[in-house]
Amino acid sequence: MNTEMTTTTAPAPTGTTLLDVRGVTMRFGGLTAVNNVDLTVSEGEIIGLIGPNGAGKTTFFNCLTGLYVPTEGTVSYKGNLLPPKPHRVTQAGIARTFQNIRLFANMTVLENVLVGRHSRTKEGLFSAILRGPGYRRAESESHDRAMELLEFTGLAAKADHLARNLPYGEQRKLEIARALASDPGLLLLDEPTAGMNPQETRAAEELVFAIRDRGIAILVIEHDMRFIFNLCDRTAVLVQGQKIVEGDRETVQNDERVITAYLGAPLEGTGAAASTEADQ
Ligand SMILES: Nc1ncnc2c1ncn2[C@@H]1O[C@H](COP(=O)(O)OP(=O)(O)OP(=O)(O)O)[C@@H](O)[C@H]1O
Ligand SMILES: [Mg+2]
Repeated sequence: MNTEMTTTTAPAPTGTTLLDVRGVTMRFGGLTAVNNVDLTVSEGEIIGLIGPNGAGKTTFFNCLTGLYVPTEGTVSYKGNLLPPKPHRVTQAGIARTFQNIRLFANMTVLENVLVGRHSRTKEGLFSAILRGPGYRRAESESHDRAMELLEFTGLAAKADHLARNLPYGEQRKLEIARALASDPGLLLLDEPTAGMNPQETRAAEELVFAIRDRGIAILVIEHDMRFIFNLCDRTAVLVQGQKIVEGDRETVQNDERVITAYLGAPLEGTGAAASTEADQ
């Protein structure tokens, strides 16, 4: 059994480092949910994060996005340390979606994307109350940008529908559109295909590639191994909070520790390691 840390054999990334995570640890009382994890994501990359249920994947995302203050370790974006405050992280250029969809159910599809735009509009409260020309211009630009994102994600025809009336797969796409509205340089996706049928999952793959082609790097948590290995330049495996392996498809699939961690579940095919809708 290979006990050495395996390093990536994937092609060298073309861009500069965007995300640089060093020694991030998150403890909840006696439980170490994330244990001394390092990870980098560079421009142009799609990086996968996999691991069994409860491995610490979502907790890791929460440490990156300021929802949790890591017990130890640092998170840098474009060379700057990130303060553990969600709005500062969004302003710095990192956007995310949630394992449990978090939309404003009683707002329209368009309004949900406009909310995501908020961190990028300069118009302040007084400007909004007075509704002067600056506000109206900003509002019109935001509207155009939001509609463009709805076109991009295939939701434009449903712009006026209430978010809660969308089928599940489209709600996931709407979360992505809303995240893109903050003009991120890095997008974190937490189980973007959970609850999708195989057709929707393939469409989601195309969407992720299209996002990358817009110059946005992606870090994605998924249980669907075909999705991960079709998309990702590199994949890191978390088991009990520790990163045990990181590398390309071959490296990850052939690592005995990964196979053991999944209790012999086959790594290929859709839904082999079934995703759960566990609350996070
Ligand atoms: N706020 C919290 N307080 C206490 N324990 C927590 C908290 N959040 C997560 N945990 C625990 O941390 C561990 C890792 O959970 P996490 O949700 O990060 O796993 P995951 O890899 O995302 O799993 P899944 O694939 O099921 O989504 C679990 O044991 C979980 O119960
Ligand atoms: Mg999770």
